Amino acid sequence: MMMTMLAVVMALSGVVALILRLLSSHIRKYAAGGVCLSTARLDGKTALITGANCGIGRETALDLASRGARVILACRDIEKGEETAAEIRRRVGGAQVEVRELDLADTCSIRAFAQRFLREVNHLHILINNAGVMMCPYMKTADGFEMHLGVNHLGHFLLTYLLIGLLKRSAPARVVVVSSLAHYFGWIRFHDLHSQGSYNSGLAYCQSKLANVLFTRELSHRLTGSNVTVNTLHPGTVRSELVRHSTVMSLLFTLFSMFLKTPREGAQTSIYCAVAEELHSISGKHFSDCAPASIAPQGRCDETARKLWDVSCELLGIEWD
Ligand SMILES: NC(=O)c1ccc[n+]([C@@H]2O[C@H](COP(=O)([O-])OP(=O)(O)OC[C@H]3O[C@@H](n4cnc5c(N)ncnc54)[C@H](OP(=O)(O)O)[C@@H]3O)[C@@H](O)[C@H]2O)c1
Repeated sequence: MMMTMLAVVMALSGVVALILRLLSSHIRKYAAGGVCLSTARLDGKTALITGANCGIGRETALDLASRGARVILACRDIEKGEETAAEIRRRVGGAQVEVRELDLADTCSIRAFAQRFLREVNHLHILINNAGVMMCPYMKTADGFEMHLGVNHLGHFLLTYLLIGLLKRSAPARVVVVSSLAHYFGWIRFHDLHSQGSYNSGLAYCQSKLANVLFTRELSHRLTGSNVTVNTLHPGTVRSELVRHSTVMSLLFTLFSMFLKTPREGAQTSIYCAVAEELHSISGKHFSDCAPASIAPQGRCDETARKLWDVSCELLGIEWD
């Protein structure tokens, strides 16, 4: 009996494996998702990408460099950043790529980065707020913010605030915010933003990704008439290092890797938002697979967006009208 069951299980596994193998090219094509078809050149343009030493950020940097942009990789680990820059230079002849240190988990680092950037760089046409952490154990940033909120939302909020004048002076310019479909499962816990009362790493990630969407919404209102646009996006489910803090997610990503996007495929919507000609005046929208995507109801609330904006300014000790 036992042997028969074992034989049936093995036969079924074999059939499933065979079907997957036969369908693999179709599955891969479907999983790859949308592709940025724009051939726009970026000669003379400057782009800044946070968290560009691996994953989606690295592929975005490679693409923008191949279009002729001067690309600045803002990384917390300079060594990893330099390895990526060397790789881009190797693959793109004449690539203009630089690495600068930026730790989004420390407002002193963000301020130092921006100060030097404003001193040494005259234009900024594309800012891609890409860096992110997911499902880390409870940790705080140097300023005492919960890590997901601190890095994914507040760090980028402060960075954008410090560079917005330069973006306006360089207009037309674009801000691209890498959010996630996970924003659908988030809500802003104003009563316990830093999860001190209770902490769930998944929910903390979702809250920060909803904050990305609400930030984009409010910023787009404030940028009306400036010729600086801001859009947000979901890159898809991408095989990257994002799951490094979760054993379960790492296991799932390995098991189902065939169904996931490669980092290059995952970078397509970031690239699309940064370069597509048809988006030159589109702002405050959300994209996925290089096409407009819907936003969760809690991401469409102007009142929550304004409240989060005010709370973020207060936490960061800034005034941003
Ligand atoms: N992968 C997905 O399935 C997926 C799905 C939806 C949304 N996203 C979003 O896509 C973005 C890129 O993620 P990814 O998948 O490419 O992940 P990744 O490979 O882990 O890349 C994340 C990048 O963020 C950087 N980073 C983390 N903390 C930082 C800090 N304090 N200061 C500066 N940089 C920091 C990392 O630097 P280190 O290498 O030094 O850690 C790394 O370069 C994230 O915003 C993520 O939320 C990803």
